[in-house]
Formats: sequence, structure tokens, C-alpha cells
Amino acid sequence: MPASPDRRRLLRLLAAAPVTASALAAAGTAPARAVPAPAAAGTVKPLPPEHFTVHGTNAETVFSSLRDTGTLTPADRFFVRNHTSTPLIGERDWRLTVWGSGLHGSRPVEFSYDQLRSMPSVSRTALVECAGNARSYFASQQGETVSGTPWTLGAVGAARWRGVPLRDVLHRAGLSSTAVDIMPSGLDGEVVSGGVNLGRVRRPLPVAKALDDVILAYEMNGEPLPYDHGFPVRVIVPAWIGIASVKWVGDIEVSDTPLASPWNTQLYRLFGAAHPPGGSAPLTRQTVKSAWELPSGAALEAGRNHRLTGRAWSAAAPVRHVEISTDGGVGWRRAALHDTPRPGGWVRWSAQWCPGVTGPARLLARTTDTAGNTQPERTVHNTQGYLFDAVVRHPVTVV
Ligand code: MTE
Repeated sequence: MPASPDRRRLLRLLAAAPVTASALAAAGTAPARAVPAPAAAGTVKPLPPEHFTVHGTNAETVFSSLRDTGTLTPADRFFVRNHTSTPLIGERDWRLTVWGSGLHGSRPVEFSYDQLRSMPSVSRTALVECAGNARSYFASQQGETVSGTPWTLGAVGAARWRGVPLRDVLHRAGLSSTAVDIMPSGLDGEVVSGGVNLGRVRRPLPVAKALDDVILAYEMNGEPLPYDHGFPVRVIVPAWIGIASVKWVGDIEVSDTPLASPWNTQLYRLFGAAHPPGGSAPLTRQTVKSAWELPSGAALEAGRNHRLTGRAWSAAAPVRHVEISTDGGVGWRRAALHDTPRPGGWVRWSAQWCPGVTGPARLLARTTDTAGNTQPERTVHNTQGYLFDAVVRHPVTVV
């Protein structure tokens, strides 16, 4: 069927530059892949309130909505962290350019989508978790002021990613032994914060990590990446804070000197009274956490036995055990684990509780991993509210 004028206009638009979901809506047509009407947050996928809480351009997974899911988070419930909005990039127009002083040749090397897909692939389960996940508890639990999106515990998801090891792409591009850093950049819009243009989303990664377990992923849970999660290709940096996993990657600088961007200088470091004056070193690994799959303020009937469920995860090592407390942290007992703890994933757990006394109560869960990391009672404050790992006091009402 010949392309309609609108469709031709859209195809020209797609060929020229990535477009946003709203530009697509304005064109009044759809590209080869079916795209629903853009959702409120500048995402492509719908964000029904039973699955998502929208924070500006971001969408947090309602943690209790994971209750009926397995160890992998379905794409339609996976949180979205967008600095701007989701660009729609056709796979035929997409190119990855690898360039910089850390390559043998002086010329940039390009990869098309088909070239990448024809290279040997790997699959790996990995969590993507925002460095600011659980940030809101600095204020609500510790009475401390922090800046940034007030996530509860839903800025995390687990998926099976398939793609090409980044090391293979770097070697094919002519990686030199003098290279120290690489820096992937996204093809989404430039980020303007407080009137300052920070440029495209990009963050340096040491070559050692890039050569270890990083993937250039084109599939999520057995399907092509959804637009909101980086289609056609994104970086997946297992165990590291989510910002390292650059979506819609368009180029990768390879450098023989250390690289910098606002995302490893002004952002994603720990600043504040407890930290060095220039901030901590750039953040790398995520922490250890647990979450109840129960709405905040859930009503639970007194005198009845309830099977309560949740999830536990740690970036450093597999989960060893989860303890729960139903009396505000005085007594603790072990929850039953329902998955074999593995690096990269999370573990579902459950515990029985028969509440006796009516009124408000707090449910606590505390994860310990096999490296000995345990969730503390408090997280040391940092002004941007990163890496909250303390035990969350989950409010319920016994009726
Ligand atoms: N990559 C680009 N290009 N643009 C972005 O806004 N957000 C980062 C990272 N990669 C971002 C990005 C952040 S902060 C996180 S936590 C993860 O993507 C979120 O991935 P998701 O939206 O697929 O859940």
C-alpha cells in the first residue's frame, strides 16, 4: 500500500531525527511499529494508575502491582525514568558511532542495527534501579530534605536483556590498550536543568566495567526493546545505578584520558555534611533493599491470618535472607524465600501475620545478602537523596 502524505511526512521526520511521542501524535499517524497515543509523562506506553504513579516525565511502578508477576517485570509495568521524553527512532535510521582517542584508528566506526543483530548475542537477567529509588523516605522517615523525584520503592525492575557484549563492539571498533573511559550518549533531547543546558544524557564508564558484563541490549523479556526502554538499542550495566544504562544509545566515546559529564560531576555523587566537600566519588553500584507488595496504608483484618508478600534484592551479592518485623522493629523473624537467590535478580518472599490489635501498624522488612550487607535503620543523608537503603517502615491499618 502506498504511504499516505502524513505517513510520508512522518517517515521523513523519522529519517531526519528522532521524534518524540508528542510530535508523532501531532503528525496524526503511526510508524511501522504500532504506537499508542502518548501517555501523560512523555512516554509511549500507557500509564494506568493501578500500575504507575507519574512523577513529571517519569513513571514509578506501583510496587503492589508486582504481586501477580514473576521474577521478570513485564514491560507494561516497568518503571520509566526519562530526563526528557521518549524519542521514536526507526531501527533503519539508527547508527551507533564509536569514536575517540582510545581507538587505534583515528576514524569513527559505525554499526547499523542489522550489523549489531548479526553479532553473537548474550542474554542476562539484570535489575535496572534508579540511584534515587526510595528517595522519598529521606523526608518521610528521616525528616531530611533532599532534591529530586520523590520515588517510593518502585523505581526498579528486573528483565531478561539480550544483546551484544559491549566488549565485542569495542574490540571490533579497535579498542586501544590506552583507553581508560568510555561514554555512551543517548539520542533523546538535550536536558535543560535550572536554565542550563546539560546536553544529551551521557555518563562515563571505566573501561574495566565496559569490558566485563555490559550489554548493548536490543531485546527485553524476549521482545524488541519497547520505545520507552531504549528502542532500538540501550546500554545495560548490571548492578550499577540506572543512569549508567543509557537508553537510545547513539554514540560511544572511547577515551585515553578520563571523561566527565554533569552525570558524574554534579549529579550521581553524594554531597552533604557527611561527604567530602567536592562530593563522593561518582556512584557505581546500587544497594540492598526490600519491599512489601502491599499498598501503603492497606487495611488488614484483625484476628485473620494474612499471607504477606514482597521482594528483596541486592546489587552486591545474592540475597541470603529476609527478616520481617510486625511490631515496629522489636521482634524479627525470617520470611520464606520463593526463588533461588542469584546475582542480578530479585527474590520473592512471604510471611504470615495474624494481627491482634486494631489501629495503625508498621511492617518492616530487612534484607541481608551473602556478602554480609544488611539494610541499616537509617541511611546517611546526602542532598540529592541517592542510595536510600534503610529499612522502610510500611504503614498499614489493622481493622
Ligand atoms: N538514557 C537516556 N538516554 N535518557 C534518560 O533519561 N535515564 C537513565 C537511564 N538511561 C535515561 C537514560 C536513568 S536515570 C535510569 S534510572 C534508567 O535509564 C531507567 O531506565 P528505564 O526507563 O528503562 O526504566
